[in-house]
Amino acid sequence: MQIVPMQKKHLKNVMAIEKESFGIDSWSLQFFQSELKSKLSHYICVIDKDNKIAGYAGCRMLFEDAEIVNICVAPPYRKLGIGKMMMRYFIDMWIDRKIQRAYLEVRVGNNVAINLYKKFGFETISTRKGYYKDGEDAYVMLLDINKL
Ligand SMILES: CC(C)(COP(=O)(O)OP(=O)(O)OC[C@H]1O[C@@H](n2cnc3c(N)ncnc32)[C@H](O)[C@@H]1OP(=O)(O)O)[C@@H](O)C(=O)NCCC(=O)NCCS
Repeated sequence: MQIVPMQKKHLKNVMAIEKESFGIDSWSLQFFQSELKSKLSHYICVIDKDNKIAGYAGCRMLFEDAEIVNICVAPPYRKLGIGKMMMRYFIDMWIDRKIQRAYLEVRVGNNVAINLYKKFGFETISTRKGYYKDGEDAYVMLLDINKL
């Protein structure tokens, strides 16, 4: 498994994984395209030995703050440590870039993702009521990078 920068050529496969994984919350192709153009954003793909996309993730960075805006592993590749691999990559990059804090939002019922984030030191700091389209709440989680 290898981490590469996400490029336009990956978007067809990324979109298929995105739809399968997020359903009504899926991002549109146009949204991914504009994210790839943004100077504030950093997107990665994990590719396997056959060049197939196993997962992808994106974060935005503004001054000393970062936010994970998307992280997803294709269903056949889950529970193999790829989520952890992408989190480790981002945290190392943030330390390098002197980022102080990282935020993210997650469905309160998404225990798999919440466990992943807690493993890297993220803590729940607040709840956004009815944040998702179906009315589920979101936890806002924060990682204080100085505490690492
Ligand atoms: C959340 C997601 C990215 C995790 O990716 P993954 O590659 O399967 O995760 P990893 O194999 O690296 O596991 C990382 C940690 O997640 C947790 N985890 C993984 N699978 C789990 C499961 N079935 N149940 C509970 N916790 C689980 C564990 O804490 C695990 O660490 P451990 O193996 O040391 O115990 C993946 O499940 C996914 O893409 N889900 C759908 C999209 C999504 O919900 N994204 C997050 C939106 S906020």
